[in-house]
Amino acid sequence: MILKFINGETRSLPLKIRKNPEIIHYYNEIIRFWNKLNFIIKSSLKYSKPLEIDQYPKYLYAAFKILWEHTSEKNILIELKDIDRKFLKKVRTFSWDKALKHKNQREKLSILTATPSFMIEHLLTVMNLEFLKTNIEFMNGLNNIEITVRINNLLEKSNLQNLIPHIKESLKQDKIEFIEDLNVPELLWIPISQKNKVIKNQLYQKGNLIFQDKASAAVIQVLSPKKEEKVCDMCAAPGIKTSLIAQYMNNKGYIIAGEFLPERAEIMRLLLNKLNVSNVYILNTDSIVFPIRFQEYFDCVLLDAPCTGSGALLATPELKWRQNRGFLQQNIILQKKLLENALNLLKPDGVLVYSTCSLYPEEGEYQILEFVDHLKPLDLPNWFSPSYKINDKFIQGTGRLFPSIHHTQGFFIGKFKKKV
Ligand SMILES: C[S@@+](CC[C@H](N)C(=O)[O-])C[C@H]1O[C@@H](n2cnc3c(N)ncnc32)[C@H](O)[C@@H]1O
Repeated sequence: MILKFINGETRSLPLKIRKNPEIIHYYNEIIRFWNKLNFIIKSSLKYSKPLEIDQYPKYLYAAFKILWEHTSEKNILIELKDIDRKFLKKVRTFSWDKALKHKNQREKLSILTATPSFMIEHLLTVMNLEFLKTNIEFMNGLNNIEITVRINNLLEKSNLQNLIPHIKESLKQDKIEFIEDLNVPELLWIPISQKNKVIKNQLYQKGNLIFQDKASAAVIQVLSPKKEEKVCDMCAAPGIKTSLIAQYMNNKGYIIAGEFLPERAEIMRLLLNKLNVSNVYILNTDSIVFPIRFQEYFDCVLLDAPCTGSGALLATPELKWRQNRGFLQQNIILQKKLLENALNLLKPDGVLVYSTCSLYPEEGEYQILEFVDHLKPLDLPNWFSPSYKINDKFIQGTGRLFPSIHHTQGFFIGKFKKKV
């Protein structure tokens, strides 16, 4: 599996492997700390000739077990058998002070927090080093002890307030601790260590509960769609936000959910069925060019745009190693075209919400600045952080959620009315 990552072939992993939680755990953690582990291995193997490529995963795994899980060398030898003892000892006695002696502050941060230098250089233009470090640490999972689960009330056709006591009772019976979120009433926080218990819980299995990041739910709180409205969710799969839109609308009105990739549209169809969403029409389309009949048609449009994912590295560590100028540029171009079409799809005075799970200003503030002549800014909840300052000014109608402040993914969210 790791060899496949080294060779850039991750999409072809057999389903059996992708479903094994233990393998997935080690895969994710090794990828999350990729450059840090490689640095440790390179420094510890200075005495030997370079490793054969098929030996490499074993060394990554051994270094991770010793330094992250404090596994003894004896137990590693039992598990891996033919691995060099001298290497294990070198890793155990590894000294960061010595190894990083000749590196500057930014290189040290890149290696110690396992973050691509492009990301560090780029984010230091909008935040200071300490704030950057705490956000990266959060996305590395170091301070992340709780996750959010959302209550879905579309199965019972009861309102949220009636369903909450029932859900609480079921969680208590399964000895799952929880607390209600202060800002988003549909969300409960649970300890990450109890995630598996939630997955086994009867109401979760039925579709009454779904894992959803608070920032993702906040995007729909901002959109706040009404029953009977016509809503377009332009980039909708896997449909987590779409299903919350349907919940706000009580399955009334209708939602057109666009998605470019057929396989992701199918995943969304299955999820919406499970959650008993019945007011969504899935459109397998390139949302840059929607059918002509939808021009100036929608009361609200959500553009949860494809992006670099630089704010969502906790959930998808593989994305870390795709952070570079080319990948950012590719996303900026796509987002701009999608934003242009979002304006075509909206009625005059219709509401646009634009969001990205990115920390880069180019995928947030700078995109909005391109369209200011067509947008009237609307208010955001007061628990959001303001946008980054561009030329010393906040961008009205936009805000940010940060891992280290809000304990969410890093998100940019903007809300506007289309100017007539
Ligand atoms: C950020 S994800 C959306 C997540 C989704 N809103 C949710 O909360 O579950 C962006 C989605 O846009 C899709 N996408 C990318 N380019 C697109 C395009 N040109 N038209 C429509 N969908 C596109 C991607 O395949 C991906 O599923």
